[in-house]
Amino acid sequence: MIKTHTFLAKLIHWTFIPLYAYGIFKQVDDLNQLEDTSLLNFEILFATVFLIVVLLRYFYMKDTPTLLGAHDELPKGHLFIAKTVHRMVYFSLIMLPTTGLIIAGIVSLGLGGVEVAIAIHEFSADLSYVVIALHVGATLYSRFKGEGLWNAMVPVWQERKKSNSNLVSKLETIEKKTYRKVEEILDLE
Ligand code: HEM
Ligand code: HEM
Repeated sequence: MIKTHTFLAKLIHWTFIPLYAYGIFKQVDDLNQLEDTSLLNFEILFATVFLIVVLLRYFYMKDTPTLLGAHDELPKGHLFIAKTVHRMVYFSLIMLPTTGLIIAGIVSLGLGGVEVAIAIHEFSADLSYVVIALHVGATLYSRFKGEGLWNAMVPVWQERKKSNSNLVSKLETIEKKTYRKVEEILDLE
């Protein structure tokens, strides 16, 4: 039986990307811009909606098995790495609006410490670039191997079958060793 993400999971995954891109591209360029009350209010509204969407999504997805489209059973070490990257994506996506709202609170109430809040906010943005790049890279790599998980979330450029080229078997041997190491270190049984 072919396992796939629900229609709602796919809809949220793909409609969330423009929301994230918009948040990143329309970013506040410097603190002085927030003296404009209508911009400040818009930022607060945007960050609140963004945060609510991320939290609803997290709770909707949290019991869905990771990499559920895989044709074969995957090693625990592999699932652990994928789950960790997904969690880090969520962490960065929660930190971004939360620290944005903290900046807004500090500015509105005229409190101190805004530099620290901005530093954490910028760190959250950088973290989101890194973990999302890892996520997209890993997904493309899996598409290349033809493992099945691509088809479960991505409606285009669908995989036809598992690749059994020499390169793929060599890469899988290295992967297996890595997963075993992870399982040993974390005592995953
Ligand atoms: C074009 C780029 C992208 C591709 C091809 C892609 C592909 C996928 C695939 C195949 C899965 C399913 C993995 C599984 O079954 O566990 C997935 C899940 C996920 N993706 Fe992406 N993705 C892309 C971009 C993004 C972006 C930009 C974000 C964040 C803003 C993101 C966040 C997530 C998260 C958090 C999950 C875990 C499942 C969930 O909670 O929805 N992805 N993605
Ligand atoms: C989901 C909501 C938000 C997203 C996605 C977002 C995204 C970003 C990004 C990508 C940067 C640049 C970081 C870097 O250069 O590494 C940034 C900077 C900043 N953001 Fe946000 N932001 C959000 C909400 C907010 C809110 C609500 C406020 C305050 C009202 C805010 C205030 C700032 C400030 C002051 C800076 C620093 C500008 C500077 O370098 O002086 N952000 N934001």
